[in-house]
Amino acid sequence: MPSYVGAIDQGTTSSRFLIFDETGKYVAIHQLEFPQHYPRPGWVEHDPNDILNTVSTCIDECINKFLDDNARSIKDLKAIGITNQRETFIAWDKKTGKPLHNAIVWCDVRTLELVHRLIKQNGVDVFRKSCGLPISTYFSAVKLLWMIENVPAVKDAHENDTLLVGTVDTWLIWNLTGGINGGLHITDVTNASRTMFMDLNTLEWNQQILDFFNIKKSCLPRICSSSEIYCHYKIRDKEIPIAGILGDQQAAFVGQKCFKSGEAKNTYGTGCFMLFNTGNTPFFSKSGLLTTVGYKFGNMPTVYALEGSIAVAGSAIQWLRDNLGIINESKDVNTLAALTPDTGGVYFVTAFSGLYAPYWRDDARGCIVGITQYTRKEHIARATLEATCFQTRAILEAMNNDSGHPLTYLKVDGGMTASDLCMQIQADLLGIQVERPMMRETTALGAAIAAGLAVGVWKSLNDLDKVNSDDNDLFKPQISSNDATQRYQLWQKAVEKSFDWA
Ligand code: G3P
Repeated sequence: MPSYVGAIDQGTTSSRFLIFDETGKYVAIHQLEFPQHYPRPGWVEHDPNDILNTVSTCIDECINKFLDDNARSIKDLKAIGITNQRETFIAWDKKTGKPLHNAIVWCDVRTLELVHRLIKQNGVDVFRKSCGLPISTYFSAVKLLWMIENVPAVKDAHENDTLLVGTVDTWLIWNLTGGINGGLHITDVTNASRTMFMDLNTLEWNQQILDFFNIKKSCLPRICSSSEIYCHYKIRDKEIPIAGILGDQQAAFVGQKCFKSGEAKNTYGTGCFMLFNTGNTPFFSKSGLLTTVGYKFGNMPTVYALEGSIAVAGSAIQWLRDNLGIINESKDVNTLAALTPDTGGVYFVTAFSGLYAPYWRDDARGCIVGITQYTRKEHIARATLEATCFQTRAILEAMNNDSGHPLTYLKVDGGMTASDLCMQIQADLLGIQVERPMMRETTALGAAIAAGLAVGVWKSLNDLDKVNSDDNDLFKPQISSNDATQRYQLWQKAVEKSFDWA
């Protein structure tokens, strides 16, 4: 009998459920977008109930599609994995199960002042050696501290020990396993490694960091591996093991099978995130990259990664669509950008929420430079695609610098990689080959792999050779490296213009 594995993929703008076969092809999918809330400039929130409801509906609808084929039955579904937007933080009451505030999303910058205060007192890297991260608006710790300082219900629940908190995986599992009636309060090492609270060596909550932020350990979830049977979830009277949890970028890392030291992937979603496998010990960057957990399968050794994070990628295209109205649908950016062979000297630094790696400038804000009377909307569209590609080059240079072994090719995935034009620009600006898999749902596939390994759908990593193994699309550089470097230098000048603004 064929085996299938499901994956909940809870992203920044939509929730999805996919079901994969043993070769890594998905046979059913359902996706729902949910509202984004922007209560003030720089603030980004999600309603935790929207997250939960869209996930539940996606599971139901996808199972219906899966069972449309009479040859399949629910018992062929061997496990479910979860992958999720990272750092986004939720606080709820353990007695009522109700959220005490909207989720504060990873790219929200309301904590800017708080972050500046903490950095001024203690330095940006005070916990870098323990948790791998600088103090920044990006990570969960400051989001929770903000809630405790600004939302009385969260403060009271923290004081009275009725507070539960967690990343989106934690909120989902607690609710899917019964909520106030005994829901499981857990997370995995990859999600925990994005909070700032977890020690990278012990893989446990770090008491010194908790004391610094004045957070009680009792409100945090238990940290598990990324691949084990955590619990079961009933679908159509069958208890299906939930057996994999990975933050979405780590899931894409697994889905792209970056299992060897020195392998890297770049995912172009709402933001854009490059992860580089550094093996079984944490490696600390000298070039502005983060140290994070790549994955940990059951009792096997932990695999660590260096990460280069870009806050704005696909969200800049949405901005062209929703705020400027120069395109009707996101994919139209390619047709518009293709009307011109270059940007006419325009550079767009999409620093909407500051600039992350390798710059780490919370105070940067977006700017478009080089505009003349000649500039048309197609130049802006092309400059928007180039913005992510230039930032990827900055990250690649930082990784090459840290590792001493320049990457010779880059595995890519995520929404923006559907654009041949964008991927060609990327290969041109990097000067190395860009490799795009045929099946690009690698984030969900990674969660399915983690779950499938735990229940024996795949017995070992070798067994994954047959998974998503179709030939990749290859994009080779078509401009000279001098040309690419000259354009990159102009980009760097534009980046400097974005600093010191907020
Ligand atoms: O760290 C944020 C990241 O997990 C969000 O991913 O796919 O929404 O860009 P994405």
